[in-house]
Amino acid sequence: MSKLVLGLHGFSSHSARLLHDTGVSLVDQAGQIIGAVNEERLSRIKNDGHFPYLAYEALLSEYNVSPKDIDAVAFPDKKPLWQTMQTIRFLVKTYKETNLFLWKYLYASLKRAIHIKRIPVKGLIHKPTYYIEHHLCHAASAYYTAPWDDVTIVTLDGMGDYCIGGTINIGAQGKIHTLYKTNGFYSPGLFYMFITGLLGFKAGRHEGKIVGLAALGDSRKCYSQMKPLLSYCKKKHDFFSKHITFILKHARYSVDGNIQSDYICLHALFKNFSKEDIAAAAQCVLEEAVIDYIKDAVRLTGKRKLVLAGGVFANVKLNHALLNLPTIENIYIHPNMGDGGLSTGAALYVSHYLKQKKTKQPSKPVPMKTVYLGMSFSNRQIEGLLRLHPVSFKKVEHIQENIAGGLAKGLIVGNFQGRMEYGPRALGNRSILAPATDHSINVTLNNRLNRTEFMPFAPAILAEQAKLYFPKWKSDHVAANFMTITYDVCPALREKVPAIVHVDGTARPQVVYKNDNPMFYKTIQAYYEMTGIPMLINTSFNKHEEPIVCKPEEAIDVLISGCIDALAIGNFWVMRKSCEQ
Ligand SMILES: [Fe+2]
Repeated sequence: MSKLVLGLHGFSSHSARLLHDTGVSLVDQAGQIIGAVNEERLSRIKNDGHFPYLAYEALLSEYNVSPKDIDAVAFPDKKPLWQTMQTIRFLVKTYKETNLFLWKYLYASLKRAIHIKRIPVKGLIHKPTYYIEHHLCHAASAYYTAPWDDVTIVTLDGMGDYCIGGTINIGAQGKIHTLYKTNGFYSPGLFYMFITGLLGFKAGRHEGKIVGLAALGDSRKCYSQMKPLLSYCKKKHDFFSKHITFILKHARYSVDGNIQSDYICLHALFKNFSKEDIAAAAQCVLEEAVIDYIKDAVRLTGKRKLVLAGGVFANVKLNHALLNLPTIENIYIHPNMGDGGLSTGAALYVSHYLKQKKTKQPSKPVPMKTVYLGMSFSNRQIEGLLRLHPVSFKKVEHIQENIAGGLAKGLIVGNFQGRMEYGPRALGNRSILAPATDHSINVTLNNRLNRTEFMPFAPAILAEQAKLYFPKWKSDHVAANFMTITYDVCPALREKVPAIVHVDGTARPQVVYKNDNPMFYKTIQAYYEMTGIPMLINTSFNKHEEPIVCKPEEAIDVLISGCIDALAIGNFWVMRKSCEQ
């Protein structure tokens, strides 16, 4: 193998506070992702921000790549000195506009510049290196894996390099042209993070819970208090927030400029409202502001196909609202939309850039066909590990029949097959499966997995049946292949699968095609043949607050701890000794 670009998101500093969700990716000279994995899966620290040594070693070993096969290294970042100068410029601008001088931010930025020491990995030191700015990486991750060329690319997150919170770009003929950048201090991402923190959850990690909670509240009750926190100014092509300025004054800055606030101001504003109503109002205000932004973006670019990346687009309800806009033809969200996808974005950008430079031809997007880009384990390796644990197991030829049979009996089954998924969602290969027909399964699963999800667990459904259960779904809705969007569930069928329907009548499906994951497809199909239900609950295979399992021993541990009833791993059907069937 040769001519690979390695995307590497991480600093060699010992501080994990500098970044979150670091990782590595390999992209070939045709612009195709070969493999990608985030450090958290190997280190077992959720959203790990350390330099991805473990991920690097594991990825190269999995794909049989040696450092000499790597032609270039791409970093999602700017060169340290340049970064600091840009930050100073931004701070001067902020001071002029808001009268705020963010001393602590400047201090954090300078400290970060000092901390950056690159490429401690042997064999890579003399490779050509490229530094790609944070939001350009997000844009590249979305555009170069999109099913279309000639698109509007929008990125939105908390804050990236140069304190940018979002960008509007045109993607055409293999190139990305950035039109506008929005400021990160008033970003929708930061707004939603503040609300997450205010409601007692972990900002930067538990935003998904707020999306679920929102459906349980009434957005009108504190709308007037929430609205000033986030709005989009079409004239300036930028976001604005009244109270965030106040929050920033009271904020503490970590070394990377991440903001941790006491939310004093927000507490005072919302003290008379329930968590549900606050979440509902926040979701409503976020959707309004981002819809205004997207409408402006489409007006500026004139392109109605939308490709998206950045943590804000992990919000499945927002994505639903965007797809429903009359001005939008279709949307695609990069499956690893948060900072976990930055290494891929950087590698894709450099690979396409080098290809265009060499061929003098446009290097168009290569649609994302698979997310199964991580580690895999052979039956031999799995059997060896099973023998070391207090479990009973048998080898079976058609494991999908055992899984379907177990689920039909009401068991909760861990499914561990083939290569691990890339991105935050489990899409069948590291999934916990359960029947969607049992209304109480959400409570059971939350209790057994020690989770507090306010949104029901998501279904994985056979593609041929998706239209029946989700009437607005269309076969070209790629966003549904990666569980990045919600749909209204057909009212007549909600009774049949009550476990997956949220109080607002929506669900967040993964539409499964036979070609994309034959093994997973066959499992759902076998269950369909047994029960007449073409879908299963599919949630991530992990213990409380841990990353999704990567290795067989971690899956076996989840079984032994009693979170699941049975485990299908490779060709082995495994039970705990106490509940053998
Ligand atoms: Fe980001």
